[in-house]
Amino acid sequence: MPNTMNRANALDLGIFLQSIMLLFAERGIGCIPQGALAAFPAPVKRLCDIPAENGIVVGMSFGYRDTREPINEMKQKRRDLDDIVSFAE
Ligand SMILES: Cc1cc2nc3c(=O)[nH]c(=O)nc-3n(C[C@H](O)[C@H](O)[C@H](O)COP(=O)(O)O)c2cc1C
Repeated sequence: MPNTMNRANALDLGIFLQSIMLLFAERGIGCIPQGALAAFPAPVKRLCDIPAENGIVVGMSFGYRDTREPINEMKQKRRDLDDIVSFAE
């Protein structure tokens, strides 16, 4: 994301990221967004052609899930919608 943009623009990035994740899910491709890449940008910048004026917000690994690996079968619990959202009527 260009360094001139602000936090609100990170929302656009998140929307874009989720759209890609949904398309991956539809096609049976696993993925994991990784904000940690932003903390270690040097190797990413070495591998990818990222302009100097851009910062890294998030990276994402993706590929076909190895179903023989138990870690890939782990399902995390989700909190109920009512726990995280308040609806005002
Ligand atoms: C923007 C974003 C950045 C993330 N960064 C990391 C990260 O750096 N390291 C990590 O272990 N998980 C990170 N996560 C969490 C994982 O990508 C993943 O969403 C979480 O493990 C839940 O997985 P599940 O949806 O399969 O249960 C991040 C998630 C999001 C949405």
